[in-house]
Amino acid sequence: MSADLRIFESAPEAVDAAAKLWAECAHEAARARGTFRIALSGGRTPKALFFLLAKPAFADLPWDRTEFFWGDERYAPISHGESNFRGANDLLLTPVGAVADRIHKMPTAGTDPVKDAQRYEESLRRHFGEALDPDGFPVLDFALQGLGADGHTASLFPEKPALQENVRWVVAARAPGSATIRDRLTLTVPVLRRARRIVFLATGREKAEAVREWLEGTEPPERCPAKLITPLGGSRTVLLDREAADLLKNR
Ligand code: 6PG
Repeated sequence: MSADLRIFESAPEAVDAAAKLWAECAHEAARARGTFRIALSGGRTPKALFFLLAKPAFADLPWDRTEFFWGDERYAPISHGESNFRGANDLLLTPVGAVADRIHKMPTAGTDPVKDAQRYEESLRRHFGEALDPDGFPVLDFALQGLGADGHTASLFPEKPALQENVRWVVAARAPGSATIRDRLTLTVPVLRRARRIVFLATGREKAEAVREWLEGTEPPERCPAKLITPLGGSRTVLLDREAADLLKNR
């Protein structure tokens, strides 16, 4: 496992490092394959990253050759304040002029998350075509991952059936009772693990215990799903601020 842990004094510095990694991977993918396929995380943390990438300093990225996917999405219309698509669209996709038919948002305005998970998987299969790895899975160039305080990533929550899925690319999932929107769609472990570059971005003291358990704890992966997202053929980079890394012994 080619783990690469980088700890920064502040959250903005960790976000800046994430932006630079994204830029490096985007240019490399566009040069090598003519396109950059990225799966975005949701929630609060990536919003600062989206805002930074929309600035002129990153205008030279291959935005016109970037295919935007989502690692997960809350099962609600995009008008909902908690929509991951809405956050990314407002802060990044619209400002950089993302190409409409390269924006692959998850279908979450319906009434059947299981059917819509299948629909998203079918759209991914149409997009990737035969360009799959030997195990029949798609290979993203970049998977942007967050970390929940309970150790979840994407919508892969502790002790949930979605963690065991090793065939489907997309499944319906259920967030714990405390979540505003419990129904979710999520990419599965085999898809996220195969990204050429997996980048975790986690900041804030409220993530410190989850980070400690994830990187140094002994709980089984079912109790800390981020432990399942180890690279298969690519590499993983973990970007933390000092607060999120505060409980790590080896830092
Ligand atoms: C989501 C995310 C999820 C997120 C973590 C951390 O849709 O909520 O994809 O996995 O990354 O919950 O969220 P915050 O960045 O808001 O702490």
